Amino acid sequence: EKDQFILAIETSCDETAMSIIKNGCEVVSNVVASQIDSHKRFGGVVPEIASRHHIEQITIVLEETLQKANMDMNAIDAIAVTEGPGLVGALLIGVAAAKSLAFAHQKPLIGVHHIAGHIYANRLVEEFQFPLLSLVVSGGHTEIILMRDHGEFEVIGETRDDAAGEAYDKVAKTLGLPYPGGPHIDRLAQEGEDQFQFTRALLHEDSYDFSFSGLKTAVMNTLHNAKQKGQELSDVNLAASFQASVIDVLVEKTYRAAKEYGVKQLIVAGGVAANKGLRKALEEKFSAEKDLELLIPPFHLCTDNAAMIGAAASIAYEQGHRAKLDLNANPSLSL
Ligand code: KG4
Ligand code: ZN
Repeated sequence: EKDQFILAIETSCDETAMSIIKNGCEVVSNVVASQIDSHKRFGGVVPEIASRHHIEQITIVLEETLQKANMDMNAIDAIAVTEGPGLVGALLIGVAAAKSLAFAHQKPLIGVHHIAGHIYANRLVEEFQFPLLSLVVSGGHTEIILMRDHGEFEVIGETRDDAAGEAYDKVAKTLGLPYPGGPHIDRLAQEGEDQFQFTRALLHEDSYDFSFSGLKTAVMNTLHNAKQKGQELSDVNLAASFQASVIDVLVEKTYRAAKEYGVKQLIVAGGVAANKGLRKALEEKFSAEKDLELLIPPFHLCTDNAAMIGAAASIAYEQGHRAKLDLNANPSLSL
């Protein structure tokens, strides 16, 4: 049987990324041009700057992606692109590029949901077994998603305010750490201990929802009060206490949901899945589960990339999903 090659494009936030995926699960090439250095001095992603960088980078990244794969457009079966959610101006660059390529080379076009991409990053590691549960933790999302089959997503719990990554970034900012703050808090947390015992929000509530904005405020208040009293607080213990509170609820609620739905796999997705403390806590919690496999992608597939978009698109392609050339960026696309 003929191999299937998908060229995937991801520009929803601050990475200009393209990848070629073979048969849905093999990464042939994977290029990520990060703009983080341009946004750092502003303490977060500036949408206008993101769009400009995507325009500058997109053709360069395309050439590099094809070159690394030693392929040309003739060998590509379909073009996939993140259509949402994300920054509209950033998404538009990827969508315009994908439509141009699809039109010029007469290839099918596939629109992909960014979160479906994060989930399917796991399929680059191992085949899915249904039903499965996915814990999606990124800068914009915190959700527990049940999948009974490919392409079927049922949100069974989500954050009521801030996303987990957003909380990491905001707390990092108050500690004077650079953007994105997640990896920095993670590093500090390894050296500290849970001195402050912040509340585990919604832990005992009978739902799979999360809430992280109260925790963020608790950290800020702790810092503020110490400052007023002229006390020096230990950053490592603050980071460790914050991280412990986040991880405790993520792990406990995900475990509870996995048991209730009797799933075969728990797959972790999104930028916060790169968190060392979270990975360790999940591994410990699920280590005794013989019939429940824990999948966590390698670090470079946790944060935004296009390989995951190609992996998700491959299934959509086989299922016959095709976008038309009027495909538009949708910043608030639902799963
Ligand atoms: O998935 P992603 O690359 O972009 C979104 O779709 O949002 O996730 C980015 C988020 C940021 O909030 C970043 O701080 C967080 O993932 N992040 C981490 C770690 N690495 C990245 N959070 C905690 N620990 C980490 N090691
Ligand atoms: Zn993402």
